[in-house]
Amino acid sequence: MTAPLIDPFARAIRYLRVSVTDRCDFRCVYCMSENMTFLPKKDLLTLEELDRMCSAFVRLGVQKLRITGGEPLVRREIMTFFRSMSRHLDSGALKELTLTTNGSQLERFADDLFAAGVRRVNVSLDTLDEAKFARVTRWGRLPQVLRGIDAAQRAGLRVKINAVALKDFNEDELFTMTAWAAARDIDMTFIEVMPMGDIGNEDRIGQYWSLKDLRAQLATRYTLTDLPDDTGGPARYVRLNETGQKIGFITPLSHNFCESCNRVRITCTGEIYTCLGQEGHSDLRAPLRSSESDAVLDDAIRAAIALKPKGHDFDYSRQAVDGQVSRHMSHTGG
Ligand code: GTP
Ligand code: 5AD
Ligand code: SF4
Repeated sequence: MTAPLIDPFARAIRYLRVSVTDRCDFRCVYCMSENMTFLPKKDLLTLEELDRMCSAFVRLGVQKLRITGGEPLVRREIMTFFRSMSRHLDSGALKELTLTTNGSQLERFADDLFAAGVRRVNVSLDTLDEAKFARVTRWGRLPQVLRGIDAAQRAGLRVKINAVALKDFNEDELFTMTAWAAARDIDMTFIEVMPMGDIGNEDRIGQYWSLKDLRAQLATRYTLTDLPDDTGGPARYVRLNETGQKIGFITPLSHNFCESCNRVRITCTGEIYTCLGQEGHSDLRAPLRSSESDAVLDDAIRAAIALKPKGHDFDYSRQAVDGQVSRHMSHTGG
């Protein structure tokens, strides 16, 4: 096993999240403003450059690769990239190749993803109500996403639903969504809403539903058993004894998990963000393009990881938003 990159707080970096596009076919209200300016296509890393970049990280000890966006499946020819990454699964260097998607294109791509070695997908879905879905995603249509989820399961992909916990929005669907997922053998993870990017008139504090509260509500109906399971991601899991299903909690606000952070992110233009919740980043595109040998790129990656911050500063506890970062989630893909 290759020795991992180690950050200044002795955390081993084994997980790379790569955003392959900042574009998306939805406009979720907590994620984007209605009018977004996207990057010119010429600034994007080409698929060959994305391949070289990811392969460098795999060589430096990354074992889990998650493709994100924007919506990763709207990037042209993205299956070529997935197919090419599967060689790192075949060699055993990579333990998991996966993606986070809004599900809109899954019906088209589920079989190809499975063929490329993907075994698990995380699909963002905050409500099962068609009208609410249209409202929260602005541009999305629920039936299309549900067809995508069905196609993924038919293709043999394990599906996990990511639901952002939103006050006065999906509080009333906690039990219906949980039961829906249980009936389909789908795992669920709830996420606390983070202060990232300007979202127009939306109010972050007003949106915030603490997962401490959500968990307490779940416990009124189910018996929760803490699980030691670790996907290598930020969620902590419980089992609902009555249904047997696994529920994850991602709690950047109510319970900070930065201490065990194992990940860094690359944007579609080749910037590296070593913390989701901080502004600091460095450019890897210039080092990548400067030389055909990877020595310069490897040095730049090591230098960036040597600057990885201790954690985010998101905080709503003073009834105000602290620690906000200026970029949207879609810039770094979460
Ligand atoms: P699994 O492999 O299933 O564990 O997935 P994951 O949780 O690693 O990935 P996913 O893309 O499903 O992430 C779910 C949510 O966790 C997203 O909203 C991310 O923004 C959030 N998240 C992931 N990493 C971090 C992090 O380092 N800090 C914070 N604050 N949130 C994170
Ligand atoms: N806070 C929390 N989660 C967010 N996501 C997008 N924006 C935010 C935010 N501000 C979620 C999406 C998706 C994942 C990649 O990030 O719903 O599940
Ligand atoms: Fe797109 Fe995901 Fe952001 Fe929604 S949360 S706008 S699906 S990137």
